[in-house]
Amino acid sequence: MRVAVIGTGYVGLVAGACFASTGNHVIGVDIDDDKINRLRRGEIPIYEPGLETLVREGIEKERLEFSVDLAHGVRESDVIFIAVGTPPNEDGSADLQHVLDVAEGIGRALNGFKIIVDKSTVPVGTASLVTNAIRTRTDHAFTVVSNPEFLKEGDAVNDFLKPERVIIGADDDRGHDTLARLYRPFILKNNRIIHMDVVSAELTKYTANAFLATRISFMNEIARLCERVGADIEHVRQGIGSDSRIGPAFLYAGVGYGGSCFPKDVQAILRTASQYGVDLEIIEATERVNEGQKKVMFEKIAHQYDGGIQGKTFAVWGLSFKPRTDDMREAPSIVIINSLLAAGAEVRAFDPEAMQVARGVFGDTVTLCEDEYETVEGADALVLVSEWNDFRTPDFAKLADRLADRAVFDGRNIWDPEYVRSFGLTYHGVGRKV
Ligand SMILES: NC(=O)c1ccc[n+]([C@@H]2O[C@H](COP(=O)([O-])OP(=O)(O)OC[C@H]3O[C@@H](n4cnc5c(N)ncnc54)[C@H](O)[C@@H]3O)[C@@H](O)[C@H]2O)c1
Repeated sequence: MRVAVIGTGYVGLVAGACFASTGNHVIGVDIDDDKINRLRRGEIPIYEPGLETLVREGIEKERLEFSVDLAHGVRESDVIFIAVGTPPNEDGSADLQHVLDVAEGIGRALNGFKIIVDKSTVPVGTASLVTNAIRTRTDHAFTVVSNPEFLKEGDAVNDFLKPERVIIGADDDRGHDTLARLYRPFILKNNRIIHMDVVSAELTKYTANAFLATRISFMNEIARLCERVGADIEHVRQGIGSDSRIGPAFLYAGVGYGGSCFPKDVQAILRTASQYGVDLEIIEATERVNEGQKKVMFEKIAHQYDGGIQGKTFAVWGLSFKPRTDDMREAPSIVIINSLLAAGAEVRAFDPEAMQVARGVFGDTVTLCEDEYETVEGADALVLVSEWNDFRTPDFAKLADRLADRAVFDGRNIWDPEYVRSFGLTYHGVGRKV
């Protein structure tokens, strides 16, 4: 098949490279000149395991090309994916400007029947808006399909090549059949294509993210109770996660959820609901709890230092919003570090992949270090914010030696408190006994 993917970010680039890997011809289109030039040279602008190899293979086999010319992508393709960003507006609703700009461009360039696919996460009713934006600019026939994406940054290629399910929301058979053919190589094993109408598909994506975010906020609330009653959230988590009706995923207490999806998608479903006059009380609480949770680690630090943070130096490990990505959008590290800086502390930080992004976020307000042990040189305490594998078994003797106040704040509960304490360090987790 001939496919265009408009937007070559985390979703568009992965989708394009994966579709090219099964023999399709794919044109990746972006408005960012610099990004397209780098991609043409086989340079990947983001960190995503396995992606570089796939993109380079696609280019070498001449199945994957990149362009800034939307009209070229549209004319040369039968299926056109819209995978541009949908950031939040001031009021929390999804900003559809990029999606509608692309839709207008598609309308102007259409040269025959095409299948247009909303791959971006977009609110209920967007397929109609996209349809109208195209229809007013062309006489050619087309159909708009909703195919929300469920990949996880850090495991995106794997998720795309072996999806747990593919959702196809379409109002005619051509949309259902063509997308099912395109995805067939990825779902041969479990055949999990779920066909539905467009509006249900649009809502499925937001419901999934709101549900996962709710599990996290739920556990963060229970963590607060654990601290009060002297229980350990890690025991509680294992205890409930072993129940097959609950399952073990997304039950981790910590510093709150962040990233480019959960915060914005939770807000966007709340906006949609309020537009339709529906109160989503559970999801409202999910967001409220998360806003509080982002401050929890700083409050623990402030409490430990009795408010005397000024002049202290903190080492921070992990800046991306989660491991295996360099994405720092809505990362809890930003809230924690900015709170420390505002309180007059100095921060020395390290992340295995997000250092370049961090430079853009913090400028020279934070000392960015070469590795995790350089951060603790001259530091008083250590704060772990994202749980990269590299941080799971550190040399605690070295930390005890270098940290002046011998204190560690484990924002993800990855360390065994007793073991850490055996090195003479003070341990602070989330929802665990102090
Ligand atoms: N990142 C994720 O993990 C993830 C997972 C599932 C769904 N999504 C959704 O997918 C969509 C894209 O997310 P992302 O993380 O890939 O975003 P991103 O910001 O990484 O990439 C978006 C790309 O679109 C390009 N773009 C913007 N306007 C354009 C235009 N008019 N023409 C061509 N290109 C344009 C930008 O230059 C950028 O390269 C969002 O709706 C997001 O919610 C993201």
